[in-house]
Amino acid sequence: MVAPRILSGIKPTGRPHLGNYFGMMRPGIEWQDRGEAFYFIADYHALTTVHDPVAMREHTRSVALDFLACGLDPQKAVLFRQSDVPEVTELAWLLTCLTPMPMLENCHAYKDHVAKGKVPSHGLFAYPVLMAADILLYNSNIVPVGRDQKQHVEVTRDLAEKANRIFGPVFTVPEASIVSEVATVIGLDGQKMSKSYNNTIALFEEEKVLRKKVMSITTDSAPMEAPKDPTTSSIVALFRLCAEPAAVATMEDQFRAGGLGYGEFKKRLFEALWERFATFRTRRAELAADPAYLDNVLAEGAARARAVALPTMDRVRKAMGLR
Ligand code: AMP
Ligand code: TRP
Repeated sequence: MVAPRILSGIKPTGRPHLGNYFGMMRPGIEWQDRGEAFYFIADYHALTTVHDPVAMREHTRSVALDFLACGLDPQKAVLFRQSDVPEVTELAWLLTCLTPMPMLENCHAYKDHVAKGKVPSHGLFAYPVLMAADILLYNSNIVPVGRDQKQHVEVTRDLAEKANRIFGPVFTVPEASIVSEVATVIGLDGQKMSKSYNNTIALFEEEKVLRKKVMSITTDSAPMEAPKDPTTSSIVALFRLCAEPAAVATMEDQFRAGGLGYGEFKKRLFEALWERFATFRTRRAELAADPAYLDNVLAEGAARARAVALPTMDRVRKAMGLR
């Protein structure tokens, strides 16, 4: 069997958080041993919200560093910057012409924006088409993402199938891969962890900040002696992601038994998180000390990505009667 092509992207809108790590980065790193993995920093997508060029460059590098620190191996996986292969915007236009407006009107990022009474940019509206172009340009089979991206992969499948019906078999039809236990990581306030809700824990938080954030997790006002429900607690949900199963079972039992306050459980969560990312933290500091290494990884990644993208574009242009 041919090795599957795996592809995913992450926006450089800030520092990656636990939702990004457990929802996409960790599964992506696991996939790098099982196929040809392509991961990119989605700077074109981030332009829908980031309008500060200095921040864009900094975030792009810091997301790439985080990914490498967590175990992305550039010998195995291709790591690149989306805008290093600008042909993706050409493919996005070709797909735009096949995309029914109602399909995009139904997409959640756009709908949420409108529901909040904000005026969406055309870029935000067309965002799923650019994402489809990312996926189809690299002939991807598998797209590891968090649950919030499932709808976008469905749009991609619809567009690929439509193009294949009209123009012949030009595109590979991809599938989303979602790890169900971590499909949606919960944030400090109990909602989905997201930069736009300001409820995130970054992967590489400073010790003091991490402690403060964990201590600020929203809880109910149950007194120390009262039994507590571990199934609805954000503390337990986050602890499950970073602690050993035995420690999780103990915490769940102690929740039910009562007698311990939330402060004690938060302390344990802080320690588990700090410990969980300790080796990655050391690795990140080493990587950050050598900027040329990252430049090299991204330049090589861009070259390897282009080698796949250019033949796809030739094929698609020809099929559509262009050039
Ligand atoms: P973004 O920061 O929007 O570029 O997201 C990058 C990846 O992280 C996507 O695959 C998202 O689905 C995933 N992700 C973001 N937030 C969460 C979350 N709270 N839980 C699980 N996955 C998430
Ligand atoms: N839209 C994704 C997000 O917000 C990021 C992304 C862009 C992506 N292009 C992609 C993910 C292609 C998977 C495949 O998280």
